[in-house]
Amino acid sequence: MLIKRPDDIEASEITEERDYWDRRRFIGATAAAGVALAAAAVPSVLVACNRAASGSERRTSEDDELTPYDDVTSYNNFYEFGTGKDDPKKRAHMLRTRPWTVVVEGEVHRPGTFDIDELWSRFPPEERIYCLRCVEAWSMVIPWLGFPLKDLLGAVEPTSHAKFVEFTTLHDPEQMPGQRRDVLPWPYVEGLRLDEAMHPLTLMAVGLYGEELPNQNGAPIRLIVPWKYGFKSVKSIVRIRLTRTQPATTWNFVLPREYGFYANVNPEVDHPRWSQARERRIGHLFKRPTLPFNGYAEQVAGLYDGMDLGRYY
Ligand code: MTE
Repeated sequence: MLIKRPDDIEASEITEERDYWDRRRFIGATAAAGVALAAAAVPSVLVACNRAASGSERRTSEDDELTPYDDVTSYNNFYEFGTGKDDPKKRAHMLRTRPWTVVVEGEVHRPGTFDIDELWSRFPPEERIYCLRCVEAWSMVIPWLGFPLKDLLGAVEPTSHAKFVEFTTLHDPEQMPGQRRDVLPWPYVEGLRLDEAMHPLTLMAVGLYGEELPNQNGAPIRLIVPWKYGFKSVKSIVRIRLTRTQPATTWNFVLPREYGFYANVNPEVDHPRWSQARERRIGHLFKRPTLPFNGYAEQVAGLYDGMDLGRYY
């Protein structure tokens, strides 16, 4: 349990702040996974988005600087709490994240309802630094805590008919005031192809910066697909359904010309209203070139062999 609310935290206080949250539960979970959490050091776990490039494209370690906690938790897209970037931080305290369950159902042999605390202990979170790149051409580098989605899917045993995975956000206008307005069809839904969902880079995030997810970042559990645009990273998930056919996804349903089902980060495929060739790292002055698949081409490009990525954007 957090003693301080994120609203009260200055960016300069982050290291100190870590001493306040419930280390007992977190350390218990991460120790089981063999994860060492150095309080002040920037953790060097897995690949960050800029590290995957090679040769002339290779970036300096300076480019891998973490985005300050304050920016990560105060500049958000979470339309359930308003369409302004600062609305989620102001309003997301209205969301109750305990008790919380995630139903996993559909084309699986062992459907189940998982309590969020059971997920924490069954799938101990590990820390991974992933870049979240928004389709609006800004990005952040964030130390997420989470577990691979494939571990959860493995536990429910997909049938041979399962081809896609659909994710659904909580629908509760009482707790989520943005859902009282028709800005989007509610609840927010997203989808992946099963092989994308089973890829080891695909994460169910339950925390960031060594603490539980702040509500505005999608507490208590959200998706992170590091090679896709941020809108695929559906927040506050209550249902995961394995399906035979491609599920509808919120932004593709609302604006199909602008947002495709795949949404792979691709500097060569422009958004109809702006270029995707460059991005602005939050807190940095100059734009930088966007990397194909957000820097993970080596690991994930094979998933799309033979596909026209201009058509399947
Ligand atoms: N999930 C829900 N339920 N509602 C949303 O409005 N916005 C998406 C995604 N997940 C959104 C969502 C978009 S557009 C982005 S860029 C990321 O969340 C932003 O995640 P962040 O606030 O942690 O940076």
